[in-house]
Amino acid sequence: KKPQARKGSMTDVPQELLNEIHGFQKDFTVDADTLKAITKNFITELDKGLSKKGGNIPMIPGWVMQYPTGKESGDYLAIDLGGTNLRVILVKLGGDRTFDSTQSKYKLPDELRTTKNRDELFAFIADSLDNFIKEQFPNGVSKNLPLGFTFSYPASQDKINEGILQRWTKGFDIPNVEGHDVVQLLQEQLTKKSIPVDVVALINDTVGTLVASLYTDGETKMGVIFGTGVNGAYYDTCKDIEKLQGRLPDDIPGDSLMAVNCEYGSFDNEHVVLPRNRFDIQIDNESPRPGQQAFEKMTSGYYLGELLRLALLESYNKGLIFKGQDVSKLEKPYIMDTSVPSRVEDDPFENLENTDEIFTKELGINTTVPERKLIRALCELIGTRSARVASCGVAGICQKRGYKTGHIAADGSVYNRYPGFKEAVAEGLRAIYGWEKADPSTYPITTVAAEDGSGAGAAIIAALTQDRLAAGKS
Ligand code: GLC
Repeated sequence: KKPQARKGSMTDVPQELLNEIHGFQKDFTVDADTLKAITKNFITELDKGLSKKGGNIPMIPGWVMQYPTGKESGDYLAIDLGGTNLRVILVKLGGDRTFDSTQSKYKLPDELRTTKNRDELFAFIADSLDNFIKEQFPNGVSKNLPLGFTFSYPASQDKINEGILQRWTKGFDIPNVEGHDVVQLLQEQLTKKSIPVDVVALINDTVGTLVASLYTDGETKMGVIFGTGVNGAYYDTCKDIEKLQGRLPDDIPGDSLMAVNCEYGSFDNEHVVLPRNRFDIQIDNESPRPGQQAFEKMTSGYYLGELLRLALLESYNKGLIFKGQDVSKLEKPYIMDTSVPSRVEDDPFENLENTDEIFTKELGINTTVPERKLIRALCELIGTRSARVASCGVAGICQKRGYKTGHIAADGSVYNRYPGFKEAVAEGLRAIYGWEKADPSTYPITTVAAEDGSGAGAAIIAALTQDRLAAGKS
C-alpha cells in the first residue's frame, strides 16, 4: 500500500522518498492496541501518584474545594504566565454564571525564560500588572485587588495561596525558583513596588480550565491543556487522595471533592510503555531536563516543530532532500515552532505552495513538490501521533474515575489551532474505547473548547477562596 497524503496524489513522488515516508510512518504511528496499553498503564501511574509514596506523575492537590455555584461575583485580577506571553486579565464575575473580562498581553522577553536572576521574572510580572492597573483604574483603587495567579508548571501546594515549584517544564530554566514559593516571590516584588494587589490563589492552567468550564457547563469532567505543554485536572474525593492523609485541616470532611492537577506530562518518565522513536530520544537527551516530561515531549506543542526538524535533517543527511543546499538554519535547535507543521497542514494547495514559501522565507531552503509532499506527510504523522497519544491522558482519568460520559474542557494552542487535532483526539478516544465510528460530537466522551481558564477560572477560584475564608473555613 502506498502512503497517501491527506490531499494531493503521491504519484509524482519518487520511490526513494516514498520509502522514506514509509519509514516515518513506522516511527510515528501508534496503533489502537498500543493506545490501550498506554491508557492501562496511565491508570496505574495516576494511582501511584496519589499514594503517599508517590510515583512519576505528581498528582498535585489543588486546594480548590468545591464546584463553583455560578453565584460567585465581584472584580478580580488574574495573570497567566504562559510559555510565550504574560496575560493580565480583569474579570468581572456576574453572579449569574456570566462574566466579562478585559485583558492585555505582554510578550515575555526571550531571555527571561532562562535568565540567571529570578527577580527579573517576578519584577517583569509586577511591572506588567502595574501597567495594567493604571490603565484600568486611572483614578487608583480604594483597596488591594485580589489576584488569581495561573502558574502553569508543577507547583506543590499545602494551601491555595502557595506554590512551591517542583521543576521547570517547557524550556524554562531559571535558577533559585525550584523549591521556592512563587506566590511569595511575586508578592515580594508587588510589595516592594507598592502595587495594590494581594495574590490570593495560585492555580494551574488545567485547574482553571476545569473550574471555568464547570461554571458554565455542569457536564465538565476534566480540564485539559493541549498547548506548549500537555496536562489535565479533575476532581477527586479527598479520602481517595492518600497523600492528603494528615495534611487535611480538620474542618474539611474526607468526602469533599478537591481539584487535582495531575501534571501527567511526566507520565512514563521511566520509559516503560511509550513508543519513543530516535527523534524523541534525541529531544530528551538534548533538553535541559533529560528524563523528565516523557509524555509531554511526545505530544505537546513545544516539541512538534522540533520533531519535524530532526526528521527532515535526517533525510537531508541521507542525501534524500534539499540536495546541495545550505541547511544551516534548519540545523538550529527549536528554530521551528508548532506554527510550522500547523501551517504546512493547513496548506490548501495540491502542490503545497504555502509550504514552499515557509521553507524559502523562514529557512532559506528551496523545496521541490515531492519534498513538500514528504514534509506534509511527516507533519500529519507528527500531529496525529501527538493527538492520539495525548488522548490516553483523558481516557486514563475517565476510566479511573468511572466516567462513561461527559465533556472534557480543552484549551491550548495546539487544540485550538492545529488543523485536524480535535478530530484526531476524538479518533484516539474512539480507538481506546472501541466506539463505533460516527460523528465525533456524538461520542460519549467529547472534548469541547473550554472557557477561559486562566482568566475566568483563576477569578472564580480567587472568589471561591475569599468566600471560604470569609466563612471562617480553611
Ligand atoms: C506543563 C506544566 C503544567 C501545565 C502544562 C500545560 O506540563 O508542567 O503545569 O499544566 O504544561 O500548560
